[in-house]
Amino acid sequence: MIQYDASQRTITLNTHRTSYQMKIHSTGVLLHTYYGPRLRGGDLSRLICPEDRGFSPNPDEVGLDRTWSLDTQPQEYSSSGVGDFRLPSLEADLDDGSHTADFRYVRHTVEEGKYALEGLPAFYGEGVTAQTLTVELKDCCSGLTVELLYGVLEEYDLITRAVRVRNDGAAPVRLTRVASACLDFPVGEHDFITLGGAYAREREPVRAALSQGVHTAGSVRGSSSHQQNPFFVLCDKDTTEDAGRCWGMALVYSGNFLASMEHTQFHETRMTLGIHPFHFSWLLQPGETFTAPEAAMVFSAQGLGHMSRLFHRAIRLNLCRGPWKDQRRPILINNWEATLFHFDADKIYSIAKAASQVGVEMMVMDDGWFGERNDDFGGLGDWNVNEKKLPGGLAPLAERIQGLGMKFGIWVEPEMVNENSDLYRAHLDWAFQVPGRPVTRGRYQLVLDLTREEVKQYVLDNLRAMLRSAPISYVKWDMNRSLTDVWSAGLPSQRQGEVYHRFVLAVYEILEALHQEFPDLLIEGCSGGGGRFDCGMLYYTPQIWCSDNTDAMDRLRIQYGTSFCYPCASMGAHVSAVPNGLTHRSTPFHTRGVVAAAGTFGYELDLNELSQEELAQVREQIAAFRTDWELVMRGDYYRLSNPFRPEDSFCAWMHVSQDRSRALVGLVQTQRHANPVRPLLRLKGLDPERDYRIDGRIYGGDELMYAGLALPFLDECQALQYHIEAV
Ligand code: DGJ
Repeated sequence: MIQYDASQRTITLNTHRTSYQMKIHSTGVLLHTYYGPRLRGGDLSRLICPEDRGFSPNPDEVGLDRTWSLDTQPQEYSSSGVGDFRLPSLEADLDDGSHTADFRYVRHTVEEGKYALEGLPAFYGEGVTAQTLTVELKDCCSGLTVELLYGVLEEYDLITRAVRVRNDGAAPVRLTRVASACLDFPVGEHDFITLGGAYAREREPVRAALSQGVHTAGSVRGSSSHQQNPFFVLCDKDTTEDAGRCWGMALVYSGNFLASMEHTQFHETRMTLGIHPFHFSWLLQPGETFTAPEAAMVFSAQGLGHMSRLFHRAIRLNLCRGPWKDQRRPILINNWEATLFHFDADKIYSIAKAASQVGVEMMVMDDGWFGERNDDFGGLGDWNVNEKKLPGGLAPLAERIQGLGMKFGIWVEPEMVNENSDLYRAHLDWAFQVPGRPVTRGRYQLVLDLTREEVKQYVLDNLRAMLRSAPISYVKWDMNRSLTDVWSAGLPSQRQGEVYHRFVLAVYEILEALHQEFPDLLIEGCSGGGGRFDCGMLYYTPQIWCSDNTDAMDRLRIQYGTSFCYPCASMGAHVSAVPNGLTHRSTPFHTRGVVAAAGTFGYELDLNELSQEELAQVREQIAAFRTDWELVMRGDYYRLSNPFRPEDSFCAWMHVSQDRSRALVGLVQTQRHANPVRPLLRLKGLDPERDYRIDGRIYGGDELMYAGLALPFLDECQALQYHIEAV
């Protein structure tokens, strides 16, 4: 519920459990006054105490009042060049060579429902209580107007923000920084939690205390990246998994991003989040509008776990789209780790056949089915079927697979091209390259300049043709390198700063076209594993391959970190062969199944090579997943331990049904020492008033949560599951 108090000139955004308040100051500056637990009312600007602060300048409009300075005011969209020396929200090169941007309130509107952003992914309001606040601010002299958009999704305690910048002036303006959100926190000591990592080690939580200065997380790789994720948390020092205040923020965007936290001279904190200013500029002609991507914020007073659960539900039900968003996904088998590029139709069929006999529902043919793609040196860009491998094209194979009672899925990497490809030989200028400079390769490939209409159209036409040529139910959309040499032959020199963002917009445009034309198609995002796991992609692809690292022990960490923002239903997770190709570790088959079952679940091996005993386990795993999927996908997720804590001997998690009548615990022993201490496992999320059955024995919900279960001694890498049912 959005409330405007005309007497105080405050606007308050209320969700079920949180309040967010801003105040229109007499100068027109839009002050930020509160974000935290829900309040009954009040004007929180009383907390801003005017003070004459040295070296904090005073604007002309307050005359000789030395207590008013933008440098000390908490704001909704900070200015640049007029005395606020903290992080600016917007920077621009104006026609006269100046850079000042200073926005004042013009008007605001409140509407039912949640705004949408043209060409950009965004949360939507269907099925929940949603409202939109639009506040228009104007710079006095440049003609720049910003529309601050706020979406309120009450049930999830989710507040979204986005910004539209319009040039109402007579001269062109070059935007060089446009934050999607700016948020000022009052005095306090905070920690900044980011999701760091690397290829095969995605989304490792990093927690650090803020000290005076600017702390950042971001990507300049053209995609959201393995190394940093466009999700982070600001929290109190003593906030834990289950208690304390925290503010989670996600950018609904898949390109370069920057999250900055400035801890100021007065121990306040300013957060800005948006497209990374690195190589960014956007020429805004008179009358044109630039839209900055959406930022999504959740406040939790009950620790990090509750914050995650709010994000999970909102992402699953009001960001992901299409029929698959809330449905059980087909249990799939993917041939990549089994065959790499070395397969033909018969090999794929034989993998599918063995899989069909144990209940696997979909065969996904990975990289290597097109062009001269026999290794990663060539073929990307040539989306014609390699008939030496697949005689007659995709349809005969897809139909044979259908004949096994399975669906058929396929891998693509549409954004890329190899120099050794017909496409590149025909269109040397379709790949990003700065004229006169040598190219920079990644995995022997170059990036297609999708900002050019004809290139985008080529990609879209080929994807359409592929999807129409055979019964294809699923696409794995991969992206195996970062962007470099970003320069487009399709844009004039003064617009080259737009290429990174236009590239992301083009990817979204292609994905949107596929979504409209093939509404039942399930697309799984992927980028060399989980290098583009973000809220932007989840709008188009309800699941994303978490990591190329399928080692169950490493996956515990990857899935743990991913769960800070993203739901289990979005985590591509498969059982693969041992020793693992990346870690060379062998883990029990059961353990690999328990870990993969905490995601979308599937297999990444050749079942023809399994023993009878392992095949029996596959059957059991599939039967279990068919029973448990709803808990995993629709239930609430609880992290019961932290696999990054060196002193913990196990990693455990839990899925609890919304009505708290069923739960599933997964646990893996991460280390084992001689004569070990007996570990206790305290459960979460159950109803303390109800009794639950575990393995035929009855326990109180209170007992399970407050006293816990004494765990058996397990061997290192051994796993167990507890199925819990209310009696
Ligand atoms: C990277 C993906 O993460 C893998 O699963 C596989 O699809 C390869 N690319 C294929 O090149």
